[in-house]
Amino acid sequence: MQNNIIYTTMSRTPIIAANWKMNIGPAEARAFLAAFKEEKLCECKGVEKVVVPPFVTIPAVVETLNGCSCLGVGAQDVSDHDNGAFTGEVSTAMLTELGCRYVVLGHSERRQYHGETNAYINKKIHKALSAGLIPIYCIGETLEQREGGQLEQVLRTQVTDGLAGLTPEQVAGLVIAYEPVWAIGTGKTASAADAQSAHAFIRSVVAEIFGEDAASKVRIQYGGSVKPANAAELMSQPDIDGALVGGAALKADSFAAIIRAAAV
Ligand code: 13P
Repeated sequence: MQNNIIYTTMSRTPIIAANWKMNIGPAEARAFLAAFKEEKLCECKGVEKVVVPPFVTIPAVVETLNGCSCLGVGAQDVSDHDNGAFTGEVSTAMLTELGCRYVVLGHSERRQYHGETNAYINKKIHKALSAGLIPIYCIGETLEQREGGQLEQVLRTQVTDGLAGLTPEQVAGLVIAYEPVWAIGTGKTASAADAQSAHAFIRSVVAEIFGEDAASKVRIQYGGSVKPANAAELMSQPDIDGALVGGAALKADSFAAIIRAAAV
């Protein structure tokens, strides 16, 4: 890959987020948080820590945290509408009322199973930002696209179309999650070098469109089979600013181990 300009990581706090997907109901979440508390990670400075439960679990998480700001709370999706006849949808106002600060948007599972397009996700990103939520915008290529030499084109389009119409300041404040689809839930992690190369490319596209200041500030997480054993190497790459973790974040001890790997 070309364009591998390395922007300074000095000002970017790594962000480790647990995407629980359709796992962990309210009772299980309370048990998770009790175990997580035992890990004594509140003192672990320099890493932003987030849990992203299913909608119905969010109130139990917020109540259990009881005002503790050690863990931020996010949602896995949000509507692009404010309210009204949209059965099954959840609005930004509902999420902020519950205490959410983040929202994952454009996850490949939503792209794949719910037909979400870059244009549609773009509307949700605008809606989230206008409500003061921090989008965690997921992008990434399929194995077919990577093997077909389309990696850069896919990432460029996802960044260009997904972030269309945002100001450089808005882009600087959001989070991009690079999640190669072939690495999600498969146990196959991108090598640290391949992940770094993709992250540097994504940052260079952000620089082209939104300028170098936004590019040097936007945090780009890696996601796809992150686990305690590979987290430190991934996190040590200059353009990798944290992780969006699925399977390995379903247990408090392994989520905690990944957070510790980002803190060193
Ligand atoms: P896994 O960590 O289970 O591969 O999931 C990654 C992911 O999709 C996080 O959003």
